[in-house]
Amino acid sequence: MKIAVIGGGSTYTPELIAGFASRVDELAVTELVLHDIDADRLDVVGGFARRILTARDYPAALVTTSDLHAAVDGADAVLVQLRVGGQQTRLVDETLPGKYGLIGQETTGPGGFAKALRTVPVVLDIAETVRERAQPGAWIVDFTNPVGIVTRALLDAGHRALGLCNVAIGFQRRFAARYGVRPDQVELDHVGLNHLTWIRGVRIAGREILPELLASDYAAELAADIGAPIELMQTLQAIPSYYLHYFYCTDDVVSEQQHGQHRAERVAEIERSLLELYRDERLVDKPALLDERGGAYYSEAAAALVTSLLTGDGARHYVNLRNDTAIPQMPAEAVVEVPAVVDRSGARAVSLAPLNPELIGLMQAVTAYESLTIAAATSGDGRIAARALIANPLVRQWKVIPDLLADLLERNAEHLPRF
Ligand code: G6P
Ligand code: MN
Ligand code: MN
Repeated sequence: MKIAVIGGGSTYTPELIAGFASRVDELAVTELVLHDIDADRLDVVGGFARRILTARDYPAALVTTSDLHAAVDGADAVLVQLRVGGQQTRLVDETLPGKYGLIGQETTGPGGFAKALRTVPVVLDIAETVRERAQPGAWIVDFTNPVGIVTRALLDAGHRALGLCNVAIGFQRRFAARYGVRPDQVELDHVGLNHLTWIRGVRIAGREILPELLASDYAAELAADIGAPIELMQTLQAIPSYYLHYFYCTDDVVSEQQHGQHRAERVAEIERSLLELYRDERLVDKPALLDERGGAYYSEAAAALVTSLLTGDGARHYVNLRNDTAIPQMPAEAVVEVPAVVDRSGARAVSLAPLNPELIGLMQAVTAYESLTIAAATSGDGRIAARALIANPLVRQWKVIPDLLADLLERNAEHLPRF
């Protein structure tokens, strides 16, 4: 099996590599390719990745390349984890919306919209190369944000793709630690869109514990971390993901964002330090500093998902896939994030209880925004872009839209050749 990682120079890559190394008995990889357009980073990350594999006697070769063709030629699975414009442009996503009194965030609100415009065309181009050169039926696994939008763009273009996020496994690990069980003994009723999910049930060894969890002291701790009031969780009888606090506590977040450091700046610092550490020839394990990244442990989900897709083990994963009939209240063509059983033929959503109206209403609005955003990104049509912002519940008000859009297009101009 050949696996290619596009954006292989990411500082997250060592974790992914360790993830594959830990599955050596289940997944017979013969070639692991890291591709990146940044040759220096690829050198440093690739060198460290190689040491990780050597220290574990991993049987497959690790190849680094800046040639996309070479990377995907004959691949069985292609993982896409890139960031168009780097942390510098992410800082624009996080800061520009504040000028208009809006949430500044890299995957949601106007920042997430700008990121989608930059990213969708790049990932679609890569996917065309995958279609031409990888194995027929090769899988594209996307972690590139905004994952829901990118995955839907890939599916709309006829690619064989799944999207992945670590929010669900983060909760799974957390509850496992809390209740003293293994993560795979925790089953979440996790539903929604990417970065717009709710946990409606937590089953541990088959027993539903969410109602008692929400009534316990632990709920306060959870509420503080998510940034959502405990009464909100009790009212919904669900745990909203961290990203929902932008929707449920918008005014608070906007005013908090007027002060303090932006995440892009902190992440840029972490990345610089990580790259320094990765240069150290003695290092053969991922440094603890990597756990400070929001995507920590995504490799577990990623390596396990690729294993299911390539070996057909039928394991359960939380993935982004085409809705079809999984949530009958949602459009069939929407991409939703739900638990699914995965084998060689792909992911099949598990059967889900109907969603309450307040969940469906928000999901439908955001799905409308997502489909307009893809149309804007692929066409470069400014009117469609404005309609996407109108549809976005975190933007919506016409009075800000013309100036916001002009500003955003200008600040992103070098990454938006279609506009
Ligand atoms: C979460 C999300 C990821 C996102 C990450 C950001 O884990 O699920 O999609 O990329 O946080 O983390 P960062 O360290 O870049 O702020
Ligand atoms: Mn070539
Ligand atoms: Mn995510």
